[in-house]
Amino acid sequence: MEILRVENLTKVYGQGENEVRALDGISFSIKQGEFLAIIGPSGSGKSTLLHILGAVDVPTSGKVYMEGKDVFQQNEEQLAIFRRRQVGLIYQFYNLIPVLDVQENITLPVLMDGRKVNQSRLQEMIKMLHLQGREKHLPNQLSGGQQQRVSIGRALMNEPSIVLADEPTGAYEIVQQKS
Ligand SMILES: Nc1ncnc2c1ncn2[C@@H]1O[C@H](COP(=O)(O)OP(=O)(O)OP(=O)(O)O)[C@@H](O)[C@H]1O
Ligand SMILES: [Mg+2]
Repeated sequence: MEILRVENLTKVYGQGENEVRALDGISFSIKQGEFLAIIGPSGSGKSTLLHILGAVDVPTSGKVYMEGKDVFQQNEEQLAIFRRRQVGLIYQFYNLIPVLDVQENITLPVLMDGRKVNQSRLQEMIKMLHLQGREKHLPNQLSGGQQQRVSIGRALMNEPSIVLADEPTGAYEIVQQKS
């Protein structure tokens, strides 16, 4: 089953002399269960593409269909629900909420959805990500690798339809040292 289809996606930032064509006519599709890696040099548009697929940025033109639905035809409220339930976005620079602790950051999409946290899933996630004992720590009290793993936990907590991971192993060495 096709889960994601992208048609002729273009993203242009800025205008005139400052214009940057970050994406230019991108089309592809992904089936459920497929794993797709996007590679390219710095500045080639990888993060821009993932941000648009996760609906935290909008395309200049082109279409994104997630599970058959035209993502950018949704209104703001529908888009907010889409971001929380269907997409797990692991940001290149983590994007954790500085005033929330590890546990609160991981469970944020569930809480924002007004749902009850599945405590056994949360504990499983914390264990899997080697974050035991850090549950009450704020992001600025964590190493880069720990922050990255909190970001991974937040993306997976809601069991989304698709996980969009932007360089999610950039701090992998730290995981190796600490485990
Ligand atoms: N908000 C923005 N305003 C203007 N230009 C932007 C903006 N965001 C990204 N760009 C530009 O768009 C291009 C693509 O950037 P993007 O962050 O998608 O690259 P990337 O492939 O993820 O790079 P890296 O490997 O360094 O993370 C770059 O030229 C960048 O300068
Ligand atoms: Mg990037």
